[in-house]
Amino acid sequence: MRVDRFLSNLPCFNRQQVRLLLVEKRVRIDGEITRDPHAEVREFSRVEVDDQVLQAGKPVRHFMLHKPAGCVSATRDPQHPTVLDLIHEPDKDDLHIAGRLDFNTTGLMLITNDGSWSRRLTQPQTKLPKVYYVETEQTIGPEYALKFSEGLYFAFEDLTTQPAGLELLGPKSARLSIVEGRYHQVKRMFGHFDNKVLRLHRERMGPLVLDEVLKPGEYRPLSDKEIEMI
Ligand code: URA
Repeated sequence: MRVDRFLSNLPCFNRQQVRLLLVEKRVRIDGEITRDPHAEVREFSRVEVDDQVLQAGKPVRHFMLHKPAGCVSATRDPQHPTVLDLIHEPDKDDLHIAGRLDFNTTGLMLITNDGSWSRRLTQPQTKLPKVYYVETEQTIGPEYALKFSEGLYFAFEDLTTQPAGLELLGPKSARLSIVEGRYHQVKRMFGHFDNKVLRLHRERMGPLVLDEVLKPGEYRPLSDKEIEMI
């Protein structure tokens, strides 16, 4: 939200007063004086007028986890361990998963408390590729790549999937790049050819690649540089 709107929404200031506060350099966002009425205030921003704290702000947090098989992409589950059970951090309840994986799918999982960051990562419109290593029961035929690049019709959602890239690695293994994350998307794409996915591993989401040193179940915070890439 713009800082002028943030301030005038408070009961203590009207719009005229907000304009003056900004001109008089009395407003600080994250410790920096701002005169710009368009300056952005986020839920994470600390906002002060003179020495009065109007919003305390909170730290933005982003983690990369190597999801193991046999764990649910949810914050809570009555039966199975969840990916959040693997994270040992304060205020875990603020965290959410950016792009779920199925119970037995392994690989890169991004976890954050920043909703607009995770939306940028997962929205099909931003077209960030999600790259999967896939192993299948049957041979992957040459016709798959063309069909995947044309898009597949998913009757349940009444949509056609966006063009996907398929790179064959072996007779029954491939690397698939998709820009959206429909329910069981990869399995349904191979299912179109009656070919069952036996192993599925997410290697990359946009520019963020699963760290090779992370073993299944391990995680680490993202660096500032990685966070800014999204
Ligand atoms: N597509 C699937 O079918 N499963 C996943 O876990 C991820 C993508």
